[in-house]
Amino acid sequence: MDSIIEFRNVKKRYDEVVAVDDVSFKVNKKDFIAIIGPNGGGKSTILKLLLKLIEPTEGSILIDNDVKISYVPQKLDTDLSFPISIMDVVLSGRINQKKIFFAKYNEDDIKKANELLKKLNLYDIRHKQIGELSGGQLQKTIIIRALMSDCNVLLLDEPTSSIDSKSKKEIYELLLEINKEITIMMVSHDVNEITNVVKGFLYINTKIHYHSDSENVNHSVCPIDKLISFNRSLIDDSYFSGMKG
Ligand SMILES: Nc1ncnc2c1ncn2[C@@H]1O[C@H](COP(=O)(O)OP(=O)(O)OP(=O)(O)O)[C@@H](O)[C@H]1O
Ligand SMILES: [Mg+2]
Repeated sequence: MDSIIEFRNVKKRYDEVVAVDDVSFKVNKKDFIAIIGPNGGGKSTILKLLLKLIEPTEGSILIDNDVKISYVPQKLDTDLSFPISIMDVVLSGRINQKKIFFAKYNEDDIKKANELLKKLNLYDIRHKQIGELSGGQLQKTIIIRALMSDCNVLLLDEPTSSIDSKSKKEIYELLLEINKEITIMMVSHDVNEITNVVKGFLYINTKIHYHSDSENVNHSVCPIDKLISFNRSLIDDSYFSGMKG
């Protein structure tokens, strides 16, 4: 299968800190990849490189022309005291799609918003102000906002950290459903929870550590073609237990 995204020997240095080093991997259409690894391991850096928010120091990143990325950041840059409703936030996901001057939502936008809000059990409270929401409700709102754009690749940076288990379950179910069409890369620390959700893991601790089978761990650089293809049933939980929290 042809890849839609490829990292080739990518290095990113922030002044003295080397955040990622010699990282190579490929992503295929409709992959669902969890990016895991210790704090400071370079997970968010991988997503920011993909979004072209930062440039690689060395190496190259190839992204197919058809790829349209949407992103759920690790930290929300929104003033929660600002008086806007769930629906306002969700619909604002359409704004960058249209000329801002003429920004007005059409029936299709509202229909799509309502469908997603129903799926994540937010429809009945869609007029609630965002400052009044629980962590889980807010996170679900942000994810729906990201899905309002016509993306075919969705990046999520720790979307389920510190939210209730019911919201987590709802989010995973939605992601599994949209993964029928959309490629997903999700940073997560919840390795045990997501083994039945994702199709592959990318373990990054500055360099990529490729986990193909329990006999063959800790390759500092993975062979490009093999990385994402390993079977999730081969993941040994004890291998990851040291990096949680
Ligand atoms: N803008 C920056 N300036 C300087 N150093 C940075 C910057 N952003 C990240 N770093 C450093 O780069 C390294 C990788 O950071 P990154 O945020 O990618 O890690 P992470 O795996 O997402 O960590 P976490 O699990 O804590 O979110 C860390 O050492 C971090 O301190
Ligand atoms: Mg991070």
